[in-house]
Amino acid sequence: MTICVFDAYGTLFDVKGAARLAAQEPGNEALAQVWPRLASDWRQKQLQYTWLRAVAGRHCDFWQVTQDGLDWALEAAGLDDPVLRENLLALYWRLPAFPEVPHMLARLAEKGHPTAILSNGSPAMLSAAVSSAGIGDVLHATLSVEEVGIFKPASAVYDMVNARFGGTPADVLFVSSNGWDAAGGAGYGFRTVWVNRAGDPLDRLYATPTKILTDLTSIPELA
Ligand code: LAC
Repeated sequence: MTICVFDAYGTLFDVKGAARLAAQEPGNEALAQVWPRLASDWRQKQLQYTWLRAVAGRHCDFWQVTQDGLDWALEAAGLDDPVLRENLLALYWRLPAFPEVPHMLARLAEKGHPTAILSNGSPAMLSAAVSSAGIGDVLHATLSVEEVGIFKPASAVYDMVNARFGGTPADVLFVSSNGWDAAGGAGYGFRTVWVNRAGDPLDRLYATPTKILTDLTSIPELA
């Protein structure tokens, strides 16, 4: 039985949701002007800091790089507003799931597939996001890199899946919207789906995904 494993941020949860939702609130007109750029900078810096810390052997948890990335993005946008900062960070703990997620996970569970999250997120962040999205009862495990103390795409992270569920990498369908994470999983030996919602070019890395989709709806057919 295929083990179905999902990246969290950007794949199940809409990371741009925090800036988008905050921009709609009264009093946040300055953010409303710049939120797409702020969301993109925040995400890019957050990810860059994970890779750099992994290469340098200077791990910290994902909550730290999430705050550090936001601070860079706020400064780049000329937004010096501690209340807005706290508001954006609070929203990160209850990011919206993409609309197809609950039904897709429920279909996998009905078919009897083991399902899990494998994420850079800290256990506390992931637990909050899973419970806010109401998907805890259709996931068998939430695996955080904090167990191994290094970020993706280190193979120690991908090792956690078979350590938890048994089997081999070939038994795993790994799903990520992050092209570099899909490449990481494919290079490791997982069957891999890259969810390319934005129509981005394929990452030029050491492995390519098995399949490219534009959303998660048909994952149960591939499992
Ligand atoms: C995660 C990051 C990569 O959830 O989005 O692991």
